[in-house]
Amino acid sequence: MSFDAIIRGGTVVTAADTFACDVGIRDGKITALGNDLGPATTIIDATDRLVLPGGIDSHVHFAQPSGDGIVMADGFASGTRSAAFGGNTTVLPFCLQEKGQTLREALKHYHSLADGECHVDVAFHLIVTDPTEHVLGQELPALVEDGYTSLKVFMTYEGLALSDRELLETMSVARETGAMLMVHAENFDAIRFLTDRLERAGNTAPRFHAASRPIPVEREATHRAISLSELVDVPIMIVHVSNREAMDEIRRAQQRGLRVMGETCPQYLMLTEKDLDQLNMEGAKYVCSPPPRDVASQQACWEGLQQKVFSVFSSDHCPFRYDDPKGKLAPKGRTSFRWVPNGIPGVATRLPILFSEGVVKGRIDLNSFVAFSATNHAKIYGLYPRKGTIAVGSDADIALWDPKRKVTIRHELIHDGSDYTPYEGLEVTGWPVLTMVRGKVVVDDGTLVGSKEHGTYLPRAKPPAGATIP
Ligand code: URP
Ligand code: ZN
Ligand code: ZN
Repeated sequence: MSFDAIIRGGTVVTAADTFACDVGIRDGKITALGNDLGPATTIIDATDRLVLPGGIDSHVHFAQPSGDGIVMADGFASGTRSAAFGGNTTVLPFCLQEKGQTLREALKHYHSLADGECHVDVAFHLIVTDPTEHVLGQELPALVEDGYTSLKVFMTYEGLALSDRELLETMSVARETGAMLMVHAENFDAIRFLTDRLERAGNTAPRFHAASRPIPVEREATHRAISLSELVDVPIMIVHVSNREAMDEIRRAQQRGLRVMGETCPQYLMLTEKDLDQLNMEGAKYVCSPPPRDVASQQACWEGLQQKVFSVFSSDHCPFRYDDPKGKLAPKGRTSFRWVPNGIPGVATRLPILFSEGVVKGRIDLNSFVAFSATNHAKIYGLYPRKGTIAVGSDADIALWDPKRKVTIRHELIHDGSDYTPYEGLEVTGWPVLTMVRGKVVVDDGTLVGSKEHGTYLPRAKPPAGATIP
């Protein structure tokens, strides 16, 4: 048997094991693991490299409408390109249903934006903002059967927030259909109350974004989302958890046997609300929700990873250009933090940050790194074992890492559509030096060698019913 490619001489790491072996690849799949595999068209030398499953980022936003003339900095081409530079081989962006739109209309639009524009593989989560009888009774069940097996609901944001009744109705459909439900947990009324009060006092600079969404706002909504999901008996994923109190709500739910999962993100490990407090509008670069908190909250999020309260580590990549009237410096945003577009870029920096701050600094082990960055995403969102591991029969989605390479993060390394990275100047150890999607190298030592036609859309299975949460 001959191979299209053999990755030779590296150390293969999965969520479970670490072992020295070669990886044989044919027709985009891993077809052999072993030594002396024989001939291949291409030999990739992996001496001194780690051979990891390509990253799966299950929380990214591309080309999402943001209102008021604001334009997201990444469409599918630049977003997936940046993902590939960061060692990712699959991303799961959101398909946002706008009010009055059907889910099918929304999906048609996102597919038209994504088709032929993706450097890595892509699947869509649905965002349900208008849970009409038609949407919940007919569209959603049919779409879950068609492979759109996860959806996100919001407890905040104008035009997106669902009432408790709507949350319950949507949760019931997730339970009946077996879809995975992601929840953005912040209390909308509390945020509006605090924002109005801050504005009346003239406190409108970006740093007041953090004061408008303090920890109790997130803790209360997390508790409420868990309670509602308990009423319906449906598994949920609380996304972008930023602090100990919200994390403890999830932990308590898990201890009570509820299937409640959690996600955290690089911004909650690396940034604090002090980053929002800068001269002029610089703080706008760090406006995201929930906001970055403090050093104790960072420590809590690390504990959430170490103690496996969190199952996944995602970027929540939601990029806006900084120096741009359609981005962070939109005229309305200068009048109040309320209007600064929410979200920061991070799809390319997610994995180097977790590797360097987590593995190299001894906070998590390499197998946990793989679980948080790829395997658990695949398991929870219905892509495993095609994606998220290195095994015979899986797609040859692989990232080669140089675990010793020291890199200073600069925006020019990111290759996205934004004009900044929140992590400019951060020194990391460990870097993805080659990214392969279904057997094809797409990024090789800092050079894009793939094309935006290579990435494919992935219909997904339902998450395994009643399975133990990874
Ligand atoms: O600020 C954020 N997180 N923007 C992205 C939208 C979301 O809530 O995930
Ligand atoms: Zn969110
Ligand atoms: Zn998000």
